[in-house]
Amino acid sequence: MDWFRHRDGQLYCEDVPLATIAERVGTPAYVYSARTIEHHVEAIREAFAAVDPLICYAVKANGNLGVLRVLREAGTGFDIVSVGEMHRVLMAGADPTKIVFSGVGKTASEMQSALEAGILMFNVESEEEVEILAGVAASMDRIASVAIRVNPDVDPKTHRYISTGQAETKFGVDIERGEALARVVAGTPSLRLVGVHCHIGSQITSVEPFARAVARIAELATTLRQDIDTVEWLNMGGGFGIYYKDGKAPEMSAYAEAIVPLVQATGLKLIMEPGRVIVGNAGALLTRVLLTKQSGTRRFVVVDAGMNDVLRPSLYEGYHRIWPVLGDAPPPLGDEGGFEPCHVVGPICETGDFLAKDRPLPDVGRGDLMAVMSAGAYGFVMASNYNDRCRPPEVLVRGDEMAVVRVRETLDDLVRYDRGDAPFEQVNA
Ligand SMILES: Cc1ncc(COP(=O)(O)O)c(C=O)c1O
Repeated sequence: MDWFRHRDGQLYCEDVPLATIAERVGTPAYVYSARTIEHHVEAIREAFAAVDPLICYAVKANGNLGVLRVLREAGTGFDIVSVGEMHRVLMAGADPTKIVFSGVGKTASEMQSALEAGILMFNVESEEEVEILAGVAASMDRIASVAIRVNPDVDPKTHRYISTGQAETKFGVDIERGEALARVVAGTPSLRLVGVHCHIGSQITSVEPFARAVARIAELATTLRQDIDTVEWLNMGGGFGIYYKDGKAPEMSAYAEAIVPLVQATGLKLIMEPGRVIVGNAGALLTRVLLTKQSGTRRFVVVDAGMNDVLRPSLYEGYHRIWPVLGDAPPPLGDEGGFEPCHVVGPICETGDFLAKDRPLPDVGRGDLMAVMSAGAYGFVMASNYNDRCRPPEVLVRGDEMAVVRVRETLDDLVRYDRGDAPFEQVNA
């Protein structure tokens, strides 16, 4: 469900025409719907109400401060993977006791900052991380709460770049090692074992991998709980898939039906770390056609957004629906027979710079405004300045109002940290 709809011959975000936003802030530009974000949080909460989960939104999906404020006001906690993300969520008013800190390579100084802030727990992924965290906490005379991230070795059947829960990925530790590590944590004075964590991957569109993963971590947590009474949380990570193509994705209730009984049987509390499912369909990227060209048998539509603005298609063949903003809604997928297949490409000097390949499109031309749909997750956060391009603005819509929650970068921003005239200094004494 989202609030991007064609009506009266043009595409709206909630009650604001996307064409108006493009006139105000130019293109390319990201646009987010606050109502869609809130709706997704509510859908998760309702489906899982029987276990009243702590929803820790995965900031990596979209860390815009305006978006984070919407989520904080909706009552979510946050899953962070760096001190940068922690800085953002605290700026957005997050309650530190609802922050979990994931990531395979946290630095000692990040651990220290998170302990100072008073976060809920660290999701710890290795023996050496336990050692480092124990040292940092002891040096601060603090006790760090820890969940062990285990690798339940479940195939989430998603793209290999976003599959994280199998035996040979860099994330977590295997279940046997996880149990031993949990016992080390429990026996370390500066650490407290509070739970077991897993995250098996992203854009997972079936229930079964989640059910298998949760069953495995539930079993481990239950074993640990028999002699470690500080264990109180099961953290199932994120990964719920969204519709990119056809408006269809599993209902939250389908996941809940499989997972809630497993959690209830443990008597433990549930944390989840959804990112994409909350913000993915809540965003679109506006772009304008710069020109069209023919090369060989191929028709190219060259737009003003490139892989530096939206990386998913180039990085992992991510599919985004792309359609003109003015005119009628696109036909259902598969009913585009009358349209010519085109490559939609950006201005970047890379063959891999494309937004869509062989995509049937109406007859678009220079200046036409297009919307790249379902771009709210892993969109702007992966944007770069490659080819010295300014990153686009971000706009948040609520009802018939819009707020520019990040302005377009300027040419000065591109050279802000360069010191081309820095004097050379003698380094060896
Ligand atoms: C530890 C962890 N939790 C949560 C997420 C969020 O995943 P998604 O956006 O698919 O829900 C990720 C994504 O990579 C992750 O690494």
